Amino acid sequence: MKEVIVELGERSYPILIGSGLLSERELIRSLIPARQVMVVTNETVGPLYSAQLCDHIKDREIREVRLPDGEAYKTLASFETLMSALLEARFERGCCIVALGGGVIGDLAGFAAACYQRGVEFVQMPTTLLAQVDSSVGGKTAVNHPLGKNMIGAFHQPRAVIADLDTLRTLPSLELSAGLAEIIKYGLIDDGEFFVWLESNLERVMAGDVEATTFAVERSCRDKARIVALDEREGGVRALLNLGHTFGHGIEHALGYGEWLHGEAVAAGMCMAARMSARLGLMSPTDARRAETLIARAGLPTSAPTGITPADMLAAMQLDKKNRGGRIRLVLMRSCGDSFLTDDYPVEVLMETLGATESPAGG
Ligand SMILES: NC(=O)c1ccc[n+]([C@@H]2O[C@H](COP(=O)([O-])OP(=O)(O)OC[C@H]3O[C@@H](n4cnc5c(N)ncnc54)[C@H](O)[C@@H]3O)[C@@H](O)[C@H]2O)c1
Ligand SMILES: [Zn+2]
Repeated sequence: MKEVIVELGERSYPILIGSGLLSERELIRSLIPARQVMVVTNETVGPLYSAQLCDHIKDREIREVRLPDGEAYKTLASFETLMSALLEARFERGCCIVALGGGVIGDLAGFAAACYQRGVEFVQMPTTLLAQVDSSVGGKTAVNHPLGKNMIGAFHQPRAVIADLDTLRTLPSLELSAGLAEIIKYGLIDDGEFFVWLESNLERVMAGDVEATTFAVERSCRDKARIVALDEREGGVRALLNLGHTFGHGIEHALGYGEWLHGEAVAAGMCMAARMSARLGLMSPTDARRAETLIARAGLPTSAPTGITPADMLAAMQLDKKNRGGRIRLVLMRSCGDSFLTDDYPVEVLMETLGATESPAGG
């Protein structure tokens, strides 16, 4: 088992990563000491893993809420369902909410934990690769509103994150690829050594090799935790975590949310950021090609889907909440492992990038 500490002063907490953690009774009991425990999960993950978890703490007062599966349920209505369940069970300030599932469950249960009685304990048990390397790290919680994704939320750090890699064995392969997009992102942002490791080991992770997956998840959590510790509330460097995301949100918005997985849109977005960086002469065409090749090997798209126009994408990118003064802020790269935030580029180059499916490296 590997441990990554997210360093946030008195709110610091461990992320535990390994195979078989869900069967470690003493570990689970020590990380969830509360007398009253609410397990939040969904109709896909609950039947697979909830009984095993609850058996370890069966001497406690346990309530489980099993929501329908999907982003469509990351809503204020589901939030109210959780609040009602907590109140009906007369759960006290000392209770603990456990999120058992992917990022949807983590974000929703985390937001419930931030709000119930002005904040209760929260433990994350992420069961998707994306949740293990991204959404469970950093303390952002939220629900969606019909007028905007993740627009209602809070920062609320968990007490611990328990990432059992065995749960990934039941995950559909496209969901695994979506998590790989965020893993590759950490390499591209500022961890060139990790990017090179992924170039040699990606297929081992895709095949479920425990040693390789443990390393990839641990390294990703370390990379994200380091950035979060520097900038918990996204005033500066945390914005680098949006590499590929401004383009990706453009794709998701222009295509319609839910058509592509978020990770697929981010993958294509990172390739667009690489090609734009190469067009601007910031990144070598060889490095842009390396980024695209690794992303393609992960089973992910390298360009926007046909049918959405550059104008559609630009309009969607202009809505990004990270923009300042009307200019679209982008994370661009100098190499595979060196990125920076900028809004200082000729708009024509952005338009060329949105219009082009070909890499400037040719082919
Ligand atoms: N808080 C953050 O910092 C942050 C960061 C990134 C993403 N997010 C949020 O995370 C969400 C996306 O998370 P996600 O990609 O995990 O999606 P998800 O939670 O919808 O899970 C994807 C699918 O996999 C299923 N699933 C989960 N674990 C499984 C398992 N072990 N076996 C079989 N099926 C399983 C789920 O039921 C779902 O159908 C979005 O709502 C996004 O906004 C939050
Ligand atoms: Zn993302």
